[in-house]
Amino acid sequence: METVLSGIRPTGNLHLGNYFGAVKNFVRMQHENNCFFFIADYHSLTTHPNPVDLHKNVKNVLAEYLAAGLDPEAATLYIQSDVPEVTELYLLLNMNAYIGELERTTSFKEKVRKQPDNVNAGLLTYAVLMASDILIHRANKVPVGKDQEQHLEMTRNFAKRFNNMYGVEYFPEPTAYNFGADLVKIPGLDGSGKMGKSEGNAVYLIDDPKEIRKKVMKAVTDSGPTEMNQPVSEPVQNLFEIMKVVSTPDTLTFFQEKYAKCEIRYGDLKKQLAEDIVAFTSPIREKILEISANEAYLKKVAKQGAEKALVSARKTISDVREIIGIKPFGNY
Ligand code: TRP
Repeated sequence: METVLSGIRPTGNLHLGNYFGAVKNFVRMQHENNCFFFIADYHSLTTHPNPVDLHKNVKNVLAEYLAAGLDPEAATLYIQSDVPEVTELYLLLNMNAYIGELERTTSFKEKVRKQPDNVNAGLLTYAVLMASDILIHRANKVPVGKDQEQHLEMTRNFAKRFNNMYGVEYFPEPTAYNFGADLVKIPGLDGSGKMGKSEGNAVYLIDDPKEIRKKVMKAVTDSGPTEMNQPVSEPVQNLFEIMKVVSTPDTLTFFQEKYAKCEIRYGDLKKQLAEDIVAFTSPIREKILEISANEAYLKKVAKQGAEKALVSARKTISDVREIIGIKPFGNY
């Protein structure tokens, strides 16, 4: 069985883009692979969240992933900071990560541009921490989006470099992994681009029906088709794209045909789309609320996950120490 691993930063709530672009994929993978999914709370420290928010966000993410279908019996679900072995591997890998390559990382350069007042060393070595997350379980498949591909490539470099330096074949070279069909990209409601938290164009799994209806009714469209079979503009196509994942094929075809015949009324399209989103998210929303209120369950899941993750992390650290030549004088 392949070892699959992915990390989730505890920032904000899950939206439809996260669900259809990633989580749904995780849920399908978990039964066919040895899966590790963790909440990357150390990574989120680069932006100095306040302590109360940090814990709240970790809890939210855990509850939302469980509600969306991650199964703690099938996959190992854990919080990164419950496995501090990852920080030891991070320190060790930092010894052969070079400043030049870290400074050239796209995500780092972007942060330097966006937050020039907070260019901390944690940002610079973000990719090393991510490599440690992956290599601590010697994972070989990593389901991530395009924006993480460079980090994955760096992980392979760090793994190769370690293996070469010590003449071992210890770390695998992990690759990106998508289960089955290509990942769906969910567009936002603002006419262009993909759904995202920072874009303010997202529908969240936790949104209540009223909020969903309001957001969808405000979605950007255009002034309507004027010619038969006219190409569909981007904002309208975006609504069709969301319809593709939440509505029945018949509903989608119905509105596409209306469009082609210049008979479409965007108000009707939006009403239908809103109801289909509500029908899709409502059961998940209920589960999120139920799980969030059950501290005992969350604690049990986190504990069980940490225990499983620690077994594999401790084994790797013990092997790596031996490879590097860190030897205790005995048992003490
Ligand atoms: N960097 C990832 C993100 O921003 C989160 C992450 C941290 C991750 N460690 C990981 C993803 C390890 C995959 C594997 O989305």
